[in-house]
Amino acid sequence: MNPLNHVAIIMDGNGRWGIKHKNSRNQGHKAGLNTVEKIIRETINQKIKYLTLYAFSTENWKRPKKEINYLFNLLESFLQNKIEDLNKKNIKLNVIGSKNFSKKLNRLISASEKKTSKNTTLQINLALNYGSKIEIINALKKLRKNNIKLNETNLSKYLQTKNTPDPEILIRTGDTKRLSNFLLWQLAYAEIFFEKKLWPDFDEKDYIKIINKFKKIKRNFGNI
Ligand code: FPP
Repeated sequence: MNPLNHVAIIMDGNGRWGIKHKNSRNQGHKAGLNTVEKIIRETINQKIKYLTLYAFSTENWKRPKKEINYLFNLLESFLQNKIEDLNKKNIKLNVIGSKNFSKKLNRLISASEKKTSKNTTLQINLALNYGSKIEIINALKKLRKNNIKLNETNLSKYLQTKNTPDPEILIRTGDTKRLSNFLLWQLAYAEIFFEKKLWPDFDEKDYIKIINKFKKIKRNFGNI
């Protein structure tokens, strides 16, 4: 059976779900947060050590201001209300992406990261204002500035996912088949699962099905 340490997820389909069921994209994001909580619980049940969630991309700034504000308010209340619970569950929160948000949110993120920094059951990498291309460019710039030899190991060390093994699984919900500038370097050998369901409809059973399918795949890494 394949070892599984890290699952990455593109949580797509909130907007469509919200329009279909509540005539509001924002209500889709709210429902999406319930799925986030379910998937965190199941990730711990499955003894998976790393979970990376794509919550907001560098491209998502193009959305209407009202939706952006709603998403960030949701995130703020998530951090305010749930960080204690995450901490009790021994979960470490790590935000990846450019952390240039409001002062309040920046402070909340730093405090949440600090509070949970020593936790070891599960590390959640929350990708916020994240873009993979800029992450790679920034890593290359740091290597050049510090005169460090450019190779795969060194580049990996300068990405924001340093100290995290590469994901073995990428899941994208919402019936769309693209990577959307997410972990382009880290997903080089990931098994990719495109799921028709919209993120708020995705549940533990769907997640377990994917994990079980993954465990049976013959992974050759270029060998035969
Ligand atoms: C993509 O669906 C989803 C997002 C851009 C936001 C994801 C946010 C959450 C799941 C809730 C907040 C999470 C945390 C951890 C606080 P979309 O809006 O692009 O859906 P669409 O393709 O149907 O328009």
